[in-house]
Amino acid sequence: MIPVNREQLRTENRELRTDFMIQTLEWTERGVVFIDQTKLPTEETYVTCTTHEQVADVIRNMVVRGAPAIGVAAAMGIALGVKNSKAESSADLKKEFDQICETIRQTRPTAVNLFWAIRRMREKFEALQTGGQESTLSIPQIKQALIEEAQRMHAEDIAANRAMGRYGATLMPASGGVLTHCNAGALATAGYGTALGVIRAAVEQGKKIHVYADETRPFLQGSRLTAWELMKDGIPTTVISDNMAGAMMKQGKIGAIVVGADRIAANGDVANKIGTYTVAVLAKEHGIPFYVAAPISTVDLETPDGSRIPIEQRNAREVTHIAGKQMVPDGVGIENPAFDVTPAKYVAAIITERGVARAPYGESLRKLAGSADSSLCSE
Ligand code: MRU
Repeated sequence: MIPVNREQLRTENRELRTDFMIQTLEWTERGVVFIDQTKLPTEETYVTCTTHEQVADVIRNMVVRGAPAIGVAAAMGIALGVKNSKAESSADLKKEFDQICETIRQTRPTAVNLFWAIRRMREKFEALQTGGQESTLSIPQIKQALIEEAQRMHAEDIAANRAMGRYGATLMPASGGVLTHCNAGALATAGYGTALGVIRAAVEQGKKIHVYADETRPFLQGSRLTAWELMKDGIPTTVISDNMAGAMMKQGKIGAIVVGADRIAANGDVANKIGTYTVAVLAKEHGIPFYVAAPISTVDLETPDGSRIPIEQRNAREVTHIAGKQMVPDGVGIENPAFDVTPAKYVAAIITERGVARAPYGESLRKLAGSADSSLCSE
């Protein structure tokens, strides 16, 4: 992987977007460029992946993370793998395409956006190879069309987050504390964010919001990433350790909670960063609305309920060490599930780019997933 000088890239790549401050990932002529989220907040560095195997590695190692960003990274990884292919026949390209998708698929199991993106790229590829008028395309044309599809997914994700923000902002209090867990911001998406998109939109509407960011052990996405991006925006933010959330709620400092999601089952159960469930139960006890903001690509209607969502187990070292320093005695047992499932009964609403779903989620999510616009949604 190649480290990137951002300013140099800015002059080399005329297509670089400049309308968003944080460039989580982007397609360039040299490869897929990622901000290295493992180095934030102390170092703002970028890496360029020139192969799809490298893209798989950056997803696995959490250089890029967050369900929507993982989805777009997967699509760009597939486009990159196909672009690098030396195949001369359609059949050989198809074989390589399958291998590329498999490499990308083996990265992280919980965020359904990964599988959604692979499916969308596969459908596009199959349409290009066999379908209708596109069947006469040459291999270079197929490569170009897949690159464009991945770029389209990048742009669509930002647009979805903006729409989500508009729907969700109305649910935020006019002023006061809003708690969030993990990072569901620009860094977890192609830009703007889901949960942080809702907060950003509320602030843009003039709401005086103070964000409480759970630090989010063990990987510290809240203290490292959420705090970093909100500070860049000038949105007032306080970081708390995860075990402080209940006390903040009891003291009346939290008016609403908004988090992202890695996968939402058909019944509205929500898989999100480990610790989200605890926050949701505490919210119920204190009568605070607990909102989930996620694009429709995170809704998995094929998974009936949360018990069927695969939960990623990550390396014990994420728990045993902080910034390289060992924090537990040798040989002690360690658990490191990266996600938990919040039952739908704790969720006040699910904010999507097509509108706001309320219980019963079995019905409302199915309607939203099947609708192309917001006509079926409540606000
Ligand atoms: O392990 P991570 O950092 O990929 O987990 C991220 C989260 O849990 C986010 O809350 C979720 O993906 C939503 S991001 C918009």
